[in-house]
Amino acid sequence: MDIRKVTVLGAGQMGSGIAQTFLQSGFTVTLYDIDQEAVNRGFSAIGTALTRLVNKGRMTEEQKSLVLQNITLSTNLENASDSDLVIEAAPEKMETKKTLFKALERICMPQTIMATNTSSLSITEIAAVTNRPEQVIGMHFMNPVPVMPLVEIIRGLATSDGTADCIRTLAQALGKTPVEVRDFPGFVSNRILMPMINEAIYTVYEGVAVPEAVDQVMKLGMNHPMGPLALADFIGLDTCLAIMETLHQGFGDSKYRPCPLLRNYVKAGWLGRKTGRGFYIYE
Ligand code: CAA
Repeated sequence: MDIRKVTVLGAGQMGSGIAQTFLQSGFTVTLYDIDQEAVNRGFSAIGTALTRLVNKGRMTEEQKSLVLQNITLSTNLENASDSDLVIEAAPEKMETKKTLFKALERICMPQTIMATNTSSLSITEIAAVTNRPEQVIGMHFMNPVPVMPLVEIIRGLATSDGTADCIRTLAQALGKTPVEVRDFPGFVSNRILMPMINEAIYTVYEGVAVPEAVDQVMKLGMNHPMGPLALADFIGLDTCLAIMETLHQGFGDSKYRPCPLLRNYVKAGWLGRKTGRGFYIYE
């Protein structure tokens, strides 16, 4: 299937990064959110990122203007009706995703592929609320989306070979490397990454070390580009907690229990960079 028009649902950090990546590869993008302010913020983040590329000499002002002509901002889901592909990048809540996919089934063209950027939830379960589960797939980008080369591709039980082939080819067209994994909680990326982040939070909780020390150990000792606590702040502590809950419930194994300190930070609204405070304070 030829994909030209893409709708991205959710204009947050991931959604705007996904929209930017498609725009830079020549696709036409509709960026949707229920909240007009969120759409405006997402659009402004894309503009800022493109200006940075212009300042670095990687893009001309003219190219930037052309790229920005291909984006439509929307708070009306019905605008997804002529898209070849819809990628959902809403918060990690199963009920939210099910509601969106149920609506998309009614709105979208019969051949539209419906992908989710979920970082841990069951693709099979999301697909089951639609009448076309063979066209539902996980297309999981990493943050910051324009920079990270991986796209984790996850087939639900009913996903067709045609859908998987199309999304694999599409990821390559975006300059990314697709890696296909099976539909289990957290897939591969977050089944490995999140327990490491959770364990880093436990070391702070138990007084083994302060956040700066934990991050220094992992950066200088293991060559990680960011320490796990800085990375948790970057991803968002609410997202980290949601993923740990999915792992804990999905596997029923106590090794995945979220650290109480992580729960407290989320209760306090200390969600990391996006709220100005997490394990670190951001000006
Ligand atoms: N958006 C777009 N581009 C960005 C960016 C952002 N938010 N942050 C950095 N960049 C770009 C910079 O402009 C720079 O580009 P050039 O090399 O072309 O000049 C490049 O990335 C490197 O940036 P910096 O030199 O400023 O800093 P750095 O070398 O420390 O790299 C980083 C920044 C790429 C974010 C690096 O720290 C890193 O790789 N961190 C780990 C990121 C990671 O693990 N991501 C996965 C998170 S898990 C996830 O996303 C999945 C999930 O489900 C939770």
